[in-house]
Formats: sequence, C-alpha cells, structure tokens
Amino acid sequence: MKTDPCTYVIFGATGNLARIKLIPALYHLDIEGRLDDETKIIAIGRRDWDNAKWISEVHEMLEAKARGGIDEEVFQRFIGRLHYHKGDMQQAECYGSLAQLLADTQVFPQNIAFYLAINPSDFSHVIQHLSEPNKLLEEHQFWRRVVIEKPFGTDLESSRSLQNKISQYLREEQIYRIDHYLGKGMVQNVLVYRFANAMLEPLWNRNYIDHIQITHSEQLGIGSRGGYYDHTGAMRDMLQSHLLQLLTLVAMEPPVSMEAEDLRDEKVKVLKSIRPIPEEAVHAHAFRAQYSPGNINGEEVNGYLQEEGIPEDSVTETYAAMKLYVDNWRWRGVPFYMRTGKRMAKAQSSISICFRHAPSQLFGHTHAKKIKQNWLLLGIQPEECIRMEMTVKVPGLEMDTRVSNLNASFRNEDEAPSDAYEDLLLDVIKGDRSLFLRYDEVEYAWKIVDPIINKWAVDRDYIETYPAGSWGPNERRLFEKESQHWRNTLQEEK
Ligand code: BG6
Repeated sequence: MKTDPCTYVIFGATGNLARIKLIPALYHLDIEGRLDDETKIIAIGRRDWDNAKWISEVHEMLEAKARGGIDEEVFQRFIGRLHYHKGDMQQAECYGSLAQLLADTQVFPQNIAFYLAINPSDFSHVIQHLSEPNKLLEEHQFWRRVVIEKPFGTDLESSRSLQNKISQYLREEQIYRIDHYLGKGMVQNVLVYRFANAMLEPLWNRNYIDHIQITHSEQLGIGSRGGYYDHTGAMRDMLQSHLLQLLTLVAMEPPVSMEAEDLRDEKVKVLKSIRPIPEEAVHAHAFRAQYSPGNINGEEVNGYLQEEGIPEDSVTETYAAMKLYVDNWRWRGVPFYMRTGKRMAKAQSSISICFRHAPSQLFGHTHAKKIKQNWLLLGIQPEECIRMEMTVKVPGLEMDTRVSNLNASFRNEDEAPSDAYEDLLLDVIKGDRSLFLRYDEVEYAWKIVDPIINKWAVDRDYIETYPAGSWGPNERRLFEKESQHWRNTLQEEK
C-alpha cells in the first residue's frame, strides 16, 4: 500500500544514525513499495558534497546495511529521490535556501517530514528557524511534521523547557518523539499477545504474578560515544526511555482502541501510578555500577575509565538497575525489576514474568520436592520468542517433575525481521502517532527517575564496578525475597 507523497528532510544526514538506520530504512520501504513515486529525500549536511557524492555515500551505506545486498533496480529508483543540500544548521541561510529548494513544488511534495538526527541541544534552534521566517512548519493544505530522537531533555526541568520552546512553533500533533524500541516487532507483539489471548488476562495481575523483570544488556562498550555517554549514563540512556516504555506495555490496562491517544492515555496512567521514590529511598530502589577491564568473547577489553574521552575519576554508571511498584489495583505489591548494562556477558533484551509458586504440599512426599515457579519469557532481541515454562512429569516410574516449554514463536522462517526505523518512518508518513511518545509520557518518566539521578549526581565519591563480560555486580539489595534473582537466560535455568 502506497502512502502520501512527501519530502523527508533529514538534518544530520551525514551522521551515524542516518547512515546506519534512516537511509537503510527508507531504502527498505522503497523496496516494499511503501513510498509514493513522488516521494523525495533531502539530506542536509555541512560537508561540501554534491548529489553525485551523496549518492555514492548512500551506496556505501546500503552496501553495509541492505538486507540481501543492494537491488540495483530499486537503487536506481531510490537515487531519483535523493537530494543533497549543503548547509550549516547553525546559520540562518541554511533555512532560507532550504525554503527556496522546497518551493519547487514540481519536484518536492509539500507534505514534509523534518527528521532531526542531530544533537538534542540543537532541537529548539532548528525548529525555530524552520518556523521563522521561513514558515516551513505551517500546515495549510499539506502536513508538516517534525521527528525528534531521545533524549528529550536530561531531567524533568530541561524536558519542560524543551517542550515549552518547541510548542511555540509546533502543535503536539506535529511532533513525533521517537523511541525506537516501540518500533521493534516483539515490542509491538507484547500488546497483541496480552490483549488477543483471552486465557492470559485472568492471570495478568498481582494474584498470580510474583514479579516482573525487564532486562537490556549489551556486550558493546560505549565505543566512540564517550562525550555523550559520560554526561548521560545508563539510567538516562536506557531506563528512563526504552525500558520504562516496555514497562508501560506490560502493565497497562486494555486501551479503548489501538488509536494513538487511547494507547498513550493508558501508558500515561501506568507511569502516573508508579510509586515515587523519595531521595532517601534511592539506595533501596536503585543500583548503579561501572564496567572495569574484562573479557568479552575471549578478547580483553578496557574498563570504562580507559575508554576514549572518559575522565579518570568519572562515576558515570554503565549499569543501572531499579525496582518500581505500580500502585494500582492490578499491580499493587508486585515488584518490577529493571536493569541495563554495557559490556555485559550477553546482548539481550527481554521481559521475564515470574508467576507465584503453585501450592506444592501435594508433592511433599515425592521426588518432586521443589516445584519451580512458572515463567513467561518474552525475548525481544536478538532472540525473539514467547516462551512459557511449565512443570510436567518426568516419564517413568517415579513421581518427579521437570520444566517444559510452550513456545509461541512469532516469526516464520521466511519472515525476515525489519528494522524498527522502517515501521516508525512509515508511521510518520501515515500520520500514525501510536508508536511515538506524547509529551506527558516523557514528563512522567522523568518524574520517576529524577530523584535517582539527582542522588547519584551528588554521590560522586564511589561507584561499584563489574568486570566487562559479566552479568553486572553481584548485588541483591533490590530483591524482595530470597527466591528472587535476575533471570539471565531465556533457556531453562539449571
Ligand atoms: C540507544 C542508546 O537509544 O539505544 C544506546 O542510546 C543503546 O546506548 C541503544 O545501545 C540500544 O538499542 P538497540 O536497538 O541496539 O537495542
């Protein structure tokens, strides 16, 4: 199904995000026949390039990223959409000349999406210049939309100030705040799995669920992003954004419909129900650590303090964990444990739901003395899975038990995964904001983590470490019960 003809204008087109995500996603949408024949893509960059040079750069990007290699026929069509516009977004001329270019309505469709793949500190400046004096954000007959990437501020106050600035120029309906986690296939599947299977709903609450864990671990370190990361840390980089979004999807009530506002209303209700963590309770509810030198896949790797651009006394966390309670009827008393870390033992994103113990006195005098709790495991990446661990009898003469899996696999072998950005860039053209954040979601998410980041900002003397390649620090203070522990695997635990 084709979409509105439009012009995608990418600020920061020569940067990393465009290179590894945006351009490949647009190309894949072209392959899928999702771009109108008239759709154009304008790349804005400071480098002194012309169209021919830009096309050769794009070819290089696609050589690295196109699934199954470049399809030369599609590529020829794709390059017909490309324009390189040399300009410095810090200078007013860049916007004047862009407005002139876009005024050529024979070439450029007037539905325009501006994608700001740039440093967040430049968001409001760019938006202001698009608006004044160039009026590029005014909608008459055609839509004008602006896509921004996280972080939306660095705390509650700065996110409010960013919002105040950009809302002078844009209506909320024009703002597409991307959280690329919401574009991942398995993340969208959380809602379908929950709300399209009648047998789950009666179990999805405090009566049956012991606790819920959300994990995002990476093997990679911070690479060349030291400048950004050292001011950000794992709590802001992953927990406040992506992982809290996952929590809302797991915990929300069924929305009235899948329309953007209905969905986002329910997500906001979850965030509003999260019990605030006062600063004096931060120690009991949150934990941070930093990777020290270690070993990943047999290779010695640096600790965080040895990474490029990191001050030797940095206490920025590369691992963060927290415990939250959603104080509503459904979830009261059920802990949600969340953690994320760089340079961990394995790269994995997952949601693990641990059910309460079944009454097991029945088996007291048999070999099956210790019956395991049921787990429902939702693997988001790299392994996508929905797996329910059940207890069954071991065949044979004894009454003994073991764990068996019910697998509801999500993808057939011939169904290739698409990248989250493909879904999201297409939704921008379709005007579907259900997978984008509304400002109140951002605001409530900051309210949750602000006390933690404030406390950590003043506790600058010491940070615990964990060796690169491990599962993080061996710290149990967040857990409520002896029986609770981090679930590191989607396979059966031994
Ligand atoms: C980004 C963070 O938002 O998400 C990165 O800034 C992180 O630090 C990345 O590595 C993880 O995304 P994905 O899709 O690779 O899991």
